[in-house]
Amino acid sequence: MKGTELSSFTQRPRRQSVARSATIALLGLAGLLWWDDNYKNIDNDHNVNPLDDIPGSGFSWHQITPSPSIEYHDCFDGFQCTRLEVPMDYNRGDGQGRRVAVALTRLPAKVPVTDPRYGGAVLINPGGPGGSGVMQVLKAGRDLQTIVDAEESPDTTESTTKAKYFDVIGFDPRGVNNTTPGFSCFPDLSSQVTWELQTEADGMLGSSESSFMRHWQRAQALNLGCSLNLATPPAGEDEALGHHVNTAPVARDILEITERHAEWREKQGQIQQALHDNIHGHDPEQHIIARTRWHRNHEKLLYWGRSYGTVLGTTFATMYPDRISRMVLDGVVDVDKYYTGNGPNPVRDADAIFDRFGLYCDAVGPEACPLYTTGGPTSIKEAFLALDEKVHNASIPVMASNTHGPEVITWTDIRTLLRIALYQPIFAFPLFAQYLGQLSNGDGSAMVDFKQGNHRSSCPSNQCQLAGPWSTACRDPGENESSATAAILCSDAEYMGEIDEDGFKVYWDELKRDSKMLGDYWAHIRMSCVGWKAKAKWKISGPFTANTTHPLLFISNTLDPVTPLYSAQKMSQKFPGSVVLRQDSEGHTSGASPSLCIAKGIRQYFQSGELPDVDVVCEADMKPLLGSTMMIKEGMTESEKVLMQAMMNEVQRVRRGPL
Ligand SMILES: *[C@@H]1O[C@H](CO)[C@@H](O)[C@H](O)[C@H]1NC(C)=O
Ligand SMILES: *[C@@H]1O[C@H](CO)[C@@H](O)[C@H](O)[C@H]1NC(C)=O
Ligand SMILES: *[C@@H]1O[C@H](CO)[C@@H](O)[C@H](O)[C@H]1NC(C)=O
Ligand SMILES: *[C@@H]1O[C@H](CO)[C@@H](O)[C@H](O)[C@H]1NC(C)=O
Repeated sequence: MKGTELSSFTQRPRRQSVARSATIALLGLAGLLWWDDNYKNIDNDHNVNPLDDIPGSGFSWHQITPSPSIEYHDCFDGFQCTRLEVPMDYNRGDGQGRRVAVALTRLPAKVPVTDPRYGGAVLINPGGPGGSGVMQVLKAGRDLQTIVDAEESPDTTESTTKAKYFDVIGFDPRGVNNTTPGFSCFPDLSSQVTWELQTEADGMLGSSESSFMRHWQRAQALNLGCSLNLATPPAGEDEALGHHVNTAPVARDILEITERHAEWREKQGQIQQALHDNIHGHDPEQHIIARTRWHRNHEKLLYWGRSYGTVLGTTFATMYPDRISRMVLDGVVDVDKYYTGNGPNPVRDADAIFDRFGLYCDAVGPEACPLYTTGGPTSIKEAFLALDEKVHNASIPVMASNTHGPEVITWTDIRTLLRIALYQPIFAFPLFAQYLGQLSNGDGSAMVDFKQGNHRSSCPSNQCQLAGPWSTACRDPGENESSATAAILCSDAEYMGEIDEDGFKVYWDELKRDSKMLGDYWAHIRMSCVGWKAKAKWKISGPFTANTTHPLLFISNTLDPVTPLYSAQKMSQKFPGSVVLRQDSEGHTSGASPSLCIAKGIRQYFQSGELPDVDVVCEADMKPLLGSTMMIKEGMTESEKVLMQAMMNEVQRVRRGPL
């Protein structure tokens, strides 16, 4: 790879493609709420990376019949898919009842599963809750594989080396995307889009005197109806999906995936051994069979979860501590807080990230940071707060142009952009500075392109027009995601919905005290559970602590807006032998910044199981706004460049939703 390709990442992307790419991120307002890593990509001026639309779209999940064993089918381009059938209710004694078909997508390892260098399958989760692991592996799988795989290519390693190559497997948790049965809180896409636009126009909590009342009523309408529906079994069935989408059964699904993948591996081994014996004569030791054997009920998990994916990870580790081979948890959620509400609010470091904005903006000056004012970081912060207040008092009208319709820029729009900036400073501080800099000069047009680029089209397709508005042809894949977020979160954390108006206001005030910048936004997450009626049938109560068969690797940024360093340290204490690897940067999960040091730590852990020393702090190789000067280091090896590229691809994937 040439240095010029790397440096292309540091160019400011074209405005329009940014607006488009940030589309998904903005949906947060419309009721999509958690901590999640859903992926959309920036179209670079140079298409140097494979981030564009997912190829092989001829594939449909309906072509695969769900089965209780794994059978991989080729899908998309270079991937394999399967639908694994599991009981909806694992605790049902008679083995009957409804089934869930878990959608799984595998990016195959660079060596066959029968090769001695095959390291196993790394399961990934992007967060959310409600994020699609299938989507994650399609978009990010190759980059994640680059990080976990051995540095050298398998063509150059002997089959006897210790180098390991891994499958990367993404799955859609219950209630999410391609896993069935699915559900929706809206009869069709157009009613959902209308609802989202109206919610946006009402403004977020804190935007006006009436914002609380409006959101409270919206919560009743949406959450009550949706959850009652989800808690009702279909005619003739016993189980209702809404009782079985929470994290504990998903952890059990992960165990099932681990076992069934091993069963499949064993079959491949038998086939390969027979072929081998045919060609080379009978191998008395049956080496291939030996190394691919399914250790039934003893198979161990390899896992890499981010954000909400750390809730799933620590839940699994608590339920099945003897079934862990590797577990990387990045952007760590305090599970006690998550499940019960006890403990400090997670937004405590968010404002410190905003202070860093002032610092970096001051360092780069007005050209790279149009929001710059003289007088140092504090003046820059004050300039922002003045603009913030001004727009809160009176929104800004923007006339139509040939790129956007007429619009008003509201305080909600500013706070939404701020939210994205705090989550992903490298990606979004430059946008934040640019849009708000223009806005402070009375020019709102770039901000409008951004805002309107985030609106989903409710334009019906031809098939939809033919089939009529209630048909499935009128649905957009993934349209149900915000509902999945609520279904999982609100049944995991029943306390969230159990609150009255006064209680909510007290909670909201607390959040605002903890973070002036993010408190209002975070209050929306709880709002998304107000009135939720579907309760989980199978929960685990903790304590969330265990001696695991292999120690966990926690990763945290020094400053993370919603999963603070403190919660990684707390969780680490509950899992003896685990280590917190810290990335000295800002944003949500270490994926917000590239760091060779972090990537090498993760690789070493997957390759050899070895953890970093306690208290290792990794530098990020790029800083928000300052970026380009720090990007390329002298003497970087080829393989470091490849790693850096993989991480930069990750940094540029816009993350949607809260956790
Ligand atoms: C989305 O909602 C529709 C309508 O209820 C449903 O048919 C579909 O399966 C759902 N998809 C997911 C992934 O939940
Ligand atoms: C916003 O309105 C308040 C109350 O009317 C006023 O005190 C304040 O000066 C206004 N701020 C700006 C920046 O216009
Ligand atoms: C759901 O999965 C499909 C692949 O089957 C993917 O193309 C789509 O983007 C996913 N949707 C979401 C919202 O993740
Ligand atoms: C882990 O093992 C240690 C040493 O045997 C023991 O003292 C501790 O209680 C165990 N912790 C858990 C959570 O089982």
